[in-house]
Amino acid sequence: MNPPRHAAGITGLGSYLPERILTNKEMESFVDTTDEWIQSRTGIKERRVAADNQFTLDLAYEAAKAALADAKITADQVDLIIVATCTGDHRFPSTASLLQNRLGSICAAFDLGAACSGFVYALNTAAQFVTAGTAKTVLVVGAEIMTRILDWNDRTTCVLFGDGAGAAVLQRVPENYGVLGIDMGSDGSGGELLKVECSITRGEGDSRRYIQQNGREVYRFAVNKLGESALQALQNCGIDPNEIDLFVPHQANVRIIDAAAKKLGLPSEKVFCDLEKYGNTSAASVPIALCEARQQNRIKHDDLIVMVGFGGGLTWASCVLKWYAP
Ligand code: ACO
Repeated sequence: MNPPRHAAGITGLGSYLPERILTNKEMESFVDTTDEWIQSRTGIKERRVAADNQFTLDLAYEAAKAALADAKITADQVDLIIVATCTGDHRFPSTASLLQNRLGSICAAFDLGAACSGFVYALNTAAQFVTAGTAKTVLVVGAEIMTRILDWNDRTTCVLFGDGAGAAVLQRVPENYGVLGIDMGSDGSGGELLKVECSITRGEGDSRRYIQQNGREVYRFAVNKLGESALQALQNCGIDPNEIDLFVPHQANVRIIDAAAKKLGLPSEKVFCDLEKYGNTSAASVPIALCEARQQNRIKHDDLIVMVGFGGGLTWASCVLKWYAP
C-alpha cells in the first residue's frame, strides 16, 4: 500500500527589511548613475541595506520568528529548516543550522543554493517532505545581504540589489489546497553570465567576491524563462493561466515582470510588484513579496497564486499554490 499523501500549504509568513533606506538619488553621489536611468531601466527607486552589525542570520531570524508567530506555532514544532541564500554568513556551518539553534528548534536544517531562484526551489523541496509525510512542519527562509557582495564602483550591478529576508511555514492542508504544481530547472551552460567568482578550492580570493553579470544576456534569459516556467508549472497541474489570482514573480526588473505577465495574459492587477522599494533581494524577494501581498489583502482563501524565481546557475523554479486560510 502507498503511504498517505498530504497536501502542503503555507500556513505562516514573515519578513524582515533592514531599516536603512538607500535611494537612487543618494547613489548618484557616489556612483556614475542617475535616478532616472535606474527607474526607467529597472523600476527600482530604493533598496534596504543591512547595518554593519547585522548578518544574514539576523535577517533570517527576524523573518522566521514572524512566520512562526503568524502560523501560531513554536520553534519546537518545526521538523526541518531550509534557508535559501547565496550570502550565507559562513561556508559552514550553514545559516540554517545557526538559525535552528537561535530559534531553539530541534530539527534537521540545511542551506539551499540556487541564487535568486532559491526560495521557490526551497519551497518546492519543502513541499515534497510534507507531501510524503516525512515532515509535518517545514520552515523555509530566503535571506540575503546582497549589498556585501556588490562592487560599489560597478554601476551595472550595484544599483540592482538590496538586503532582506522572508519566511514561510509549510504544513499539511486539506486536499486540493497548497502546492498543486511545480517546475524547476537549471542550465549550467549559462553559469558564466551571473556569478560571484571567488573560490576557496581554486585559491581565488577576496578580489573576486563581487557579483559579475552579463545584464543583457541575463535579461534575455529571464524574459523568456519567467513566463515559460510559470506556464510549465500550470500545465503540470492542469490549470489554465486565466485562473491565476495573483502572480508573485522574483523582483529583479519591472520590464522582465511585465514581459512575463504579457506571456501569461495577466492584467496588471494580478501581478505583484514591490521592487521599487527593495530592489532585487535575491532569494528573499519572493517571500517578502508574498508577505506584502497578504498584508495588502491581495491574497485570500481559495486564491490561486503562482510564484516564479530565476537567477544564477542559471536556474529557475515555479510553484502553483492554492491558498488555504479559511
Ligand atoms: N547608470 C547609468 N548608466 C548605466 C548604468 C547605470 N546604473 N548601468 C549601465 N549603464 C549604461 C551602460 O554602460 C550602457 O552604456 P553604453 O551604451 O554607453 O555602453 C547603457 O547604460 C545601456 O546598458 P545595458 O546593459 O544595455 O542596459 P539594459 O537596458 O540592458 O539594462 C539591466 C541593464 C538593468 C542590468 C538589464 O540588462 C537587466 O535587468 N538585466 C537582468 C538583470 C537581472 O535580472 N539580474 C538578476 C538575476 S537574479 C540573481 O540570481 C542574482
